[in-house]
Amino acid sequence: MKRMIIAGNWKMNMIPSAAKAFTEDIMNVLRQRDNKSTVILCPPFISISAVADSIGDMSISIGAQNCHEKPKGAFTGEISASMIADAGCAYCIVGHSERRRDFGENDTLIAEKIRILINAKLIPIWCIGESLEERNNGKTFAIIEKQLTTTLGELKDIDCSDIIIAYEPIWAIGTGLAATPEQAQEVHEFIYTILTGYNLNLPILYGGSVTGDNAASLLALPNINGALVGGASLSVESFTGIVDAANKQLH
Ligand code: PGA
Repeated sequence: MKRMIIAGNWKMNMIPSAAKAFTEDIMNVLRQRDNKSTVILCPPFISISAVADSIGDMSISIGAQNCHEKPKGAFTGEISASMIADAGCAYCIVGHSERRRDFGENDTLIAEKIRILINAKLIPIWCIGESLEERNNGKTFAIIEKQLTTTLGELKDIDCSDIIIAYEPIWAIGTGLAATPEQAQEVHEFIYTILTGYNLNLPILYGGSVTGDNAASLLALPNINGALVGGASLSVESFTGIVDAANKQLH
């Protein structure tokens, strides 16, 4: 049966008190649903424990948005994978295009982060995706292949079977211009095929301007196992609407 994962990437939003209230609102809605999807909230580091305290025994999971690639040491201002795990996270986003763009993260560094996350028993939500220029130049598949193979090439010695991939075309992030179901499906199918070459069958999420309105058509596609949601994850109505669309695929 198809698995559905809906992850909300709050980015640099929600102070701890707001995170707590928001999580409680989400839980109140989900309690009224027969939720069968994996729901992951990804708050900023400082708000992780507020979310962890709020969820109690609800089956909502928490993800961080980043971690440092080293286990510990003199890295002022950084947060390690084991700190994230201890704070209550089961997941961590890695390689988001905003970090690739603003913090110079490349495929090799992303491999180091994935390694440290797997060692800490955290599930990486590994983001890949092409820019508008790359798409317009017909390079989408080449870029996706390079991102996947460069990172996986560094990870040959560890078990990568517990990773979630998020295909996030950069031109669709925060623009209101989501990929069409056809655009998303062809890249998801391509990712699926590459992973098969590594004997990996990983869930592949779509991310980029997912809303309560377009979620149903994207999530219905065969190789789409859920969504990584930015802007719409900051509204209870939109986010739970996306979870509803995911659940429709499972009932
Ligand atoms: P968006 O962001 O839903 O606001 O486009 C997605 C993301 O950056 O993960």
